[in-house]
Amino acid sequence: MTDALDRALFHSRTWLDSLAERPVGARASAAELKAVLSRPLPETGRDPADIIDDLAADTDAGLHANAGGRFYGWVMAGALPSALAADWLVSAWDQNSGMFTVAPATCVIEEVAGEWLKELFALPLDASFAFTTGCQLAHVTALAAARHGVLRRAGWDVEQDGMFGAPPIRVLTSKNRHGSLDSALRYLGFGQAALVDVETSPLGDMQAEDLARHLAGWDGPKIVCLNAADLNIGTFDDFRTLIPMAQAAGAWVHVDGAFGLFARTSARLAHLTDGIDLADSWATDCHKWLNVPYDCGFAVVRDPEAHRAAMALGAAYLSPSTDVRDPADWNLELSRRARAVPVYAALQELGRKGIEDLVDRCCDHCTAIVNGIGALPHAIALNDPSLNQGLIRFERPDASAEENNAFTKDIIQRINADGGAFFSGTTWKGRSAMRVSVVSWRTTGEDVARTIETVRRCLEDAL
Ligand SMILES: Cc1ncc(COP(=O)(O)O)c(C=O)c1O
Repeated sequence: MTDALDRALFHSRTWLDSLAERPVGARASAAELKAVLSRPLPETGRDPADIIDDLAADTDAGLHANAGGRFYGWVMAGALPSALAADWLVSAWDQNSGMFTVAPATCVIEEVAGEWLKELFALPLDASFAFTTGCQLAHVTALAAARHGVLRRAGWDVEQDGMFGAPPIRVLTSKNRHGSLDSALRYLGFGQAALVDVETSPLGDMQAEDLARHLAGWDGPKIVCLNAADLNIGTFDDFRTLIPMAQAAGAWVHVDGAFGLFARTSARLAHLTDGIDLADSWATDCHKWLNVPYDCGFAVVRDPEAHRAAMALGAAYLSPSTDVRDPADWNLELSRRARAVPVYAALQELGRKGIEDLVDRCCDHCTAIVNGIGALPHAIALNDPSLNQGLIRFERPDASAEENNAFTKDIIQRINADGGAFFSGTTWKGRSAMRVSVVSWRTTGEDVARTIETVRRCLEDAL
């Protein structure tokens, strides 16, 4: 055992030490990785330490350095030191954290970490919560509670009688939603036809008049899903106006705050989330802006009764405890990893002040990158970041929109192949763009300067 662990520590350190200088994006193709990794299933066993050595060697070219400071793809970061170290402990302890009787210490840690997060986000302290694998499963958890809540009001017990024959529910949300909401709703028995697109402004926030029109047009049970920061430019819906309007019409309001909920931790940015605490449920990710290792999402539900009814586990042989919180009563899984332990560590490492600094710093770096790249020839900043998300487009004069879509994709590819930084792409208002997403605790001013220089060099090479 010790040899394998020593090798894992050595390779982990080597990996982390390499982050500052290694190419940011993975270099190996799928075929190359398969050629190395796809060994025949062995007949007999091998030395554990050798397996760890091989793992480190065989994956090196196929790993993205998202834990480093110059990775701006999707909304991904690495792990704070205490969170990563706590995650190692979680694996070493190997506590099955579904029930207190099975995993006493880690279940209590989960309870404390959940209370801390509600406090951090200034959400109702008597709300219930669940640690999930990610925001998509936080949506499933919260929307299962929503489904229970709105059907209960309509006189239907969905846990007893299921969705077949239930009063139909409409889910009002904007086209600007994240795709994980659609998946989450599908898992809960909502077809795509149950989703209604509400109009948005040019910035992507939901239009109140159109929501009012759709609310008035549907007498049955309804759920409204709002955005606390959209993926492209970090636009927030107007919670103060929309939530009371939806609730007055009998709707359950759910908020996707995968990363945007963290704006609440910053004195400078909290106004963007004004009124968000009025909602009925919220979903966010700790593996995004809190910089804990994958996988860790977080769901909060104002009505614990609806939440528990949707999730609780009834089997008597599992002897549920009464005076303590059993995570399995609030979660999709029974057997599960103690994923709240790294959160417990990260919240102590940073404290409220450190989290606010991290959030503000990422937003400042995002603005600096967008402005810095936007000032380069052939680069256009498509937004003035109000959070940590920016968009850049690359254009050649006299080229068609189609040609500039291809040009933008080509520049992204060149930057990622260069290895000096890593970005992912998107389509915004019908045009290709490069996303600038900053969520890493490691990103520094020097990383920002190196990033802009990398883009400048790649643009120059392409022209
Ligand atoms: C706004 C938003 N919602 C939901 C998700 C899904 O989160 P996860 O991948 O943790 O399930 C993401 C992921 O990037 C997101 O940005």
